[in-house]
Amino acid sequence: MAILFCTSPRAQTRWRPHLVAAFAGRDIHFWPDVGEAAAIEYALVWQPEPGLLARLPNLKLIASLAAGVDHVLRDPTLPRGVPILRLVDPYMTQAMTEHIVLQVLRLHRQDFDYRAHQAVAEWREHEQKNAAERTVGILGFGTLGQDAGRKLQVLGFDVAGWSRSVKVVPGFATYAGETGLDALLARSEILVSLLPSTSETEGILDAALFARLPHGAGLINAGRGRHLVEADLLAALASGQISAAALDVFRTEPLPPAHPFWRHPRIIVTPHVAAETNPPTAAAIIAKAIADFEAGRPIRNLVDLDRGY
Ligand code: NDP
Ligand code: OXD
Repeated sequence: MAILFCTSPRAQTRWRPHLVAAFAGRDIHFWPDVGEAAAIEYALVWQPEPGLLARLPNLKLIASLAAGVDHVLRDPTLPRGVPILRLVDPYMTQAMTEHIVLQVLRLHRQDFDYRAHQAVAEWREHEQKNAAERTVGILGFGTLGQDAGRKLQVLGFDVAGWSRSVKVVPGFATYAGETGLDALLARSEILVSLLPSTSETEGILDAALFARLPHGAGLINAGRGRHLVEADLLAALASGQISAAALDVFRTEPLPPAHPFWRHPRIIVTPHVAAETNPPTAAAIIAKAIADFEAGRPIRNLVDLDRGY
C-alpha cells in the first residue's frame, strides 16, 4: 500500500522525518508526486486541491492533518464512501487550552484597557472581579471545548458549554440546540467559539447572537473564520455590546494587510496558531489509526459526513 501526503511544501519538510519514522518501510508520496494513483490507499491531507482525492481509485481512508475537516469536505468531488479520520491529538488540545486560557484571562483582567492606558501613560484602575464571579460560555463543547473548560474551571471560572446534542459533562452546566443557546448566551460574559465549520455554524457569530449576550461581553473565536460575520463584530464593538475580541481564525487567511481587524484597538489578532498540528505526535497518532484500521480494530474520531464534522 502507498500513502499520499499532501500539505504545503514548507510543512512537508517538517513532517517528512516523522512520517518516515511512523510509517517505516511504507511507500510515501509527497504531493505533488502522486506516483501511481491506483497504488494510493491512504491520503493524509491538509487543504487538498479539489478533485485530487477523487482521482485515487483505491483510496481506503482519508486522514485530516487538522482537527477540523472543512478543508476536506469543501471538495464537491470528494469520494463519499471513503472514511475520513479527523486529528485528535492531546498535544494540540493542550495548545488550544493554553490559547483559550490566555485570551480569557486577557478579557477577564481587562488587559485591553490597561494596554490602552499604558500607551498614554495613564495610571487608572478598574474594578476587578474574581474568576468565580466571571461567566464563560463555550460554543462547541467537544474535545477542545471541554479541555479548555476544565482548565478554566480550575482557575475558578464559572464555565458552561453548548453542543449540538444534549450531553452530561460532570461539573458543568451544559446546553444544546437553539433553545439551549439562548440560555448559554444570556449567562456568558466571555464567549468562546470552538465550533467546527459546518452549514449550521456558518455566520453563527452575528449581530443577533451578540445581542443575546450580556452588554460588554468579550468574544474569543478559535473555531473557524466562517463563524463570524465580521461587519457585525465591528458594529458590536462600536456600540459596546462586545467590549473586545480575540480572533485566531478568519474568513480570509492570511488576513489581508488592509483588513480593519489588524488595527482595531479592541481586537487581538493571532494568525491561526491557537493549536497548530504537531508532526511528531500527529504522525504517530495517524499511523496507529491506520494500523488499527488495517487490522480491523475499531477506530475513533471518524467524521460523520451528514453532520459535517
Ligand atoms: P469536536 O468534534 O470534538 O467538538 C465539536 C463540538 O461542536 C461538539 O461539542 C459538537 O456537538 C459541537 N457542535 C457542532 N456543530 C454544532 C451545532 N450546529 N450546534 C451546536 N454545537 C455544535 O471538535 P474539536 O473540539 O476537536 O475541534 C473543534 C474545532 O476547533 C475544529 O473543527 C476546528 O474548526 C477548530 N480548531 C481550530 C484550531 C486553531 O488553531 N484555531 C486548531 C484545532 C481545531 P456534539 O458534542 O453534540 O457533537
Ligand atoms: C485544525 C486547525 O482544525 O489547525 O486543526 O485549525
